[in-house]
Amino acid sequence: MIIGGSSSQKLAANIAHEMDDVLCPLETRKFPDGERYLRIKKEVDDGVVVVQSTGFPQDENLMELFLILKTLRSMGVNNIRTVIPYFGYGRQEKSFNSGEAVSAEVVCQLIEFAGASSVYSLNLHEKSICDLFRIPAFNLSAIPAIARYVEKNVEDPVIIAPDKGALGFAQEVAQILGCPSDHLEKIRLSPEKVETKPKNLDVEGRDAVIIDDIISTGGTIVNACQILKEHQVGRIVVSCVHPVLVGDALLKIFTAGADDVVGTNTLKSEVSNVSVAGLVAEALKKE
Ligand code: R5P
Repeated sequence: MIIGGSSSQKLAANIAHEMDDVLCPLETRKFPDGERYLRIKKEVDDGVVVVQSTGFPQDENLMELFLILKTLRSMGVNNIRTVIPYFGYGRQEKSFNSGEAVSAEVVCQLIEFAGASSVYSLNLHEKSICDLFRIPAFNLSAIPAIARYVEKNVEDPVIIAPDKGALGFAQEVAQILGCPSDHLEKIRLSPEKVETKPKNLDVEGRDAVIIDDIISTGGTIVNACQILKEHQVGRIVVSCVHPVLVGDALLKIFTAGADDVVGTNTLKSEVSNVSVAGLVAEALKKE
């Protein structure tokens, strides 16, 4: 039985379809004062899968997840596999300055305390978040699914990471498709002059696919598009796993020269055109 929280209803339905399983009806709404009401409207099996992304509004989606988990435990469910396609607060997995909250750790503890038996997420910003749980936690990758989209939509591309941190994603796509990859790098030409360019490849006239794990404000991708344009690249397709897309991020990216933007459905957005339902279902079937 699959339970889809309000942030991941369609994805939950797609996962249920892939697993030949049924969706459990759920009533979730807000009281007039803003507090959340939740009711699981059917008897549940002893083992269920809960699907709930914890992107914006993060706190509300998390609270709903806690209520689902705790209610299932109260109903006697022993095995609650919890799919969190996008893991909110994942970028605060350590204390960068003294006194800062390690929010990812708090969130992991609360999910566990609320009743999750295991957790499945995708392309966690830091894999080490899995170690913050005492229950089994799995970090799945949507990169092969993005590679399949690229294969169908872009001929003979170069795969570009906007910075060194995203190079692993670009290399993974490039390896699947058998095409070159590179990352953008800042090079100091003189004490006053810095140039950012593809580290090794000549991209002139080539179609480029930019890949990153998250697009949030779009700043990283806008910068990458501008640099590739300066180097006379052909078409630019921007891809990411998690389309957080704050405010007018998408508009800024298209204005900077992107021809297409694609993300996965770990989060709902205008560009969530690559589905992770199949790969989540596969992972759930294995355990
Ligand atoms: C950074 O570590 C991430 O991989 C992304 O590059 C970053 O989160 C993107 O943020 P923004 O869209 O705000 O530049």
